[in-house]
Amino acid sequence: MNLRLITIDGPVAVGKSSVGLLLAEKLGFRFFDTGVIYRTFTWKALNAGLSPSETDALVQLARDIAFQFVPGNGAILTVLIDGQDVSKLMMSQPVERNVALIAKIPLVRERMVAEQRRMAEETKLVMAGRDIGTVVLPWADLKVFLTASVEERAGRRHKELAERGVEIECATVLAELKQRDHNDTTRKVSPLKPAPDAVAINTDGLSQDEVVDKIYELAVNRDAGH
Ligand code: C5P
Repeated sequence: MNLRLITIDGPVAVGKSSVGLLLAEKLGFRFFDTGVIYRTFTWKALNAGLSPSETDALVQLARDIAFQFVPGNGAILTVLIDGQDVSKLMMSQPVERNVALIAKIPLVRERMVAEQRRMAEETKLVMAGRDIGTVVLPWADLKVFLTASVEERAGRRHKELAERGVEIECATVLAELKQRDHNDTTRKVSPLKPAPDAVAINTDGLSQDEVVDKIYELAVNRDAGH
């Protein structure tokens, strides 16, 4: 296959990571979920005692820090920040509450975007996020934008949390998703939106495998047209 880069963007809990990982494994590509880099950085910043309002210090930290991308489980690429793997800590509540605030600082994003591009030069990749098709890799071979109703996404996220032993009301999950959607779509820098040439897939009522198969087929067809 000549195709090298596939982007999957979409709102929170639409299934980008699970679909992206399965797709990457089917294609023999690597998979990177860019939420991880923003979460990892947020963890580092909070651990250094910084709050999201300390913009200058956050930008400096973003410039000073060393990122490495290493193979994780299966096709996944994980991030080491200053040599440390913080993947177990990055889903914590403090990170959850602060990540969107830190991710909207333009000069912090600048460094994160540069790192994501560096990674994309090194390997065949499925990259998932919010702005991958629009800002990070606009030259990608295939761009997909996943959508699903907020109710369906809240239901999926609620189930996922319950499986991890987190007890939370479905209504709370729904309210938090709506808030995050609002933050991600209205922010000035790199808001969540489909690239003009992205293929939109509404995943309501589709299984993960069905979504993977659809994108796989698009990739094969796109490759044939290369
Ligand atoms: O995808 P995930 O929920 O892990 O992302 C966490 C947060 O990181 C998002 O709510 C968003 O604010 C930020 N993010 C971003 N750009 C990306 C991926 C994530 O701003 N490409």
